[in-house]
Amino acid sequence: MLARVSTFTIDGLEPRHVTVEIDVRLGLPAFTIVGLADRAVRESRDRVHAAILNSGFEFPQKRVTVNMAPAWLRKTGPGFDLAIACAILAVGGHVPAEALERYAVFGELGLGGEIRACRGALAVAEGAACAGIAGLIVPRERALEAALVDGLDVVGASSLRQVTEILRGEEVAPAPEPQAAVVPAPARQPDLVDVRGHANVIETLTIAAAGGHNLLMSGPPGVGKTMLARRLPSILPPLSKTEALEVTRIHSIAGVHRGLGLVGERPFRAPHHLISASALVGGGSVPAPGEASLAHHGVLFLDELSEFPRPALEALRQPLEDGRVAIVRGQRTAIFPTRFMLVGATNPCPCGHAPAPRCRCNENDLARHARRLSGPLLDRIDLVVHVQRPSAEHLAQPPATRSEAVRERVLAARRRQVHRFDGTAALCNAHMDAQLLRRHVDLDEDADIPLVDVYRRGELSARGRDRTLRVARTIADLAGEQRVLREHVVAALGYRHEAADVVGAAA
Ligand SMILES: Nc1ncnc2c1ncn2[C@@H]1O[C@H](COP(=O)(O)OP(=O)(O)OP(=O)(O)O)[C@@H](O)[C@H]1O
Ligand SMILES: [Mg+2]
Repeated sequence: MLARVSTFTIDGLEPRHVTVEIDVRLGLPAFTIVGLADRAVRESRDRVHAAILNSGFEFPQKRVTVNMAPAWLRKTGPGFDLAIACAILAVGGHVPAEALERYAVFGELGLGGEIRACRGALAVAEGAACAGIAGLIVPRERALEAALVDGLDVVGASSLRQVTEILRGEEVAPAPEPQAAVVPAPARQPDLVDVRGHANVIETLTIAAAGGHNLLMSGPPGVGKTMLARRLPSILPPLSKTEALEVTRIHSIAGVHRGLGLVGERPFRAPHHLISASALVGGGSVPAPGEASLAHHGVLFLDELSEFPRPALEALRQPLEDGRVAIVRGQRTAIFPTRFMLVGATNPCPCGHAPAPRCRCNENDLARHARRLSGPLLDRIDLVVHVQRPSAEHLAQPPATRSEAVRERVLAARRRQVHRFDGTAALCNAHMDAQLLRRHVDLDEDADIPLVDVYRRGELSARGRDRTLRVARTIADLAGEQRVLREHVVAALGYRHEAADVVGAAA
């Protein structure tokens, strides 16, 4: 006897349709799984066996063969348990085979027959809708997430027995309401109001947030660099629905999605500096997204930037440039999106007090520090700002800037960009390619003179020139100017000049 059930596996970030076929025939009792299954899938046998018995059904005392098609596709994870169990129960006549044609099923089983939440429900729901399947049965905790996909009858179930009742038409759980799924923002995010002084750094943070630019803060210990970076989310624009869906899908697949439905806030990822290159950009024998992808549409904050291992920093080049990273394993390539804002914080030298005479570093220390920060990575950072010690007067002053006011300015500048980039792949000024730059950076007559000067002196790469223009566009947007004026270009160049100083201070 034969039964078929639709389910999905996640390949990188893509859902792939898998048909679980079961053949049950007379012979010595055996239970085999074929079809390029990984260890977690092969372990399904024991879970499914126990779950079926503990749910009050009989396990066929026959030769049971499970095939997962297509056989060339690598199947990973425990999400196939429910499909395999349903197929076995269909062969045993406990659920009608026609009902199983209407649904795809996805979930991990516990030994007692309970259904456990597993990763990637949103991607699976998208896959089911694309494959034209009418309904999807998922673990109850993941139902709100799966229900974000339109046109799919999503049913959340908590036990195998409940699934059989649903398939027999005995109990139909009400469809979850996707609106209720949006996780409310936490009551209080860290606010810029806590910061004393640093008006220039807050202005730089504003430009970074307004245009989505990469930012590096350099300064002595204890002046508020980490504090400022952690307040960046409070001035960022909210996620659009499309962005929120992309973030939810990635976080769900990576298993870091703690909420129930749509992710409501821009990601802010701050990995420790001992992170490996593959944990940062993605990798593993089964490619999984790294911190760079978890920060997609949000912020990747590298605190103590100069302490990160060089291979990890080098690995960031492609994601920073292309907004995605390609991980090749065997003959397959997984593509992970990585459109994040890079925010780095560093001391100007290992002792933290450069330049001389306060600096106590020896030449080797300085050279190592300069090597870590120099070159290609710095060239991809648009804004570099020195964070000075706030003066005693500043520390004594009452709070000057609230995040809400800054956020208003950021939102106004972003609105101009949404209008500008309508119908293109860009979402903010930092995403402009050469063609968009030509079209949208409308330089005033004398505005490019300072740029040509600096370029002629060899202080700017061609990439650096384009990046300067993008920042100038954002400064003009914040000022409400249609054209990019000379003062905007000069200000943008100022932020890059400082880039040379960060390395220069240590070199
Ligand atoms: N400008 C400031 N306004 C108010 N509090 C500040 C300011 N600067 C520092 N502090 C206080 O000092 C603490 C340490 O600051 P923070 O961790 O941001 O320093 P840092 O520049 O990141 O130092 P390091 O280079 O050692 O990492 C903050 O949590 C805050 O309490
Ligand atoms: Mg710090």
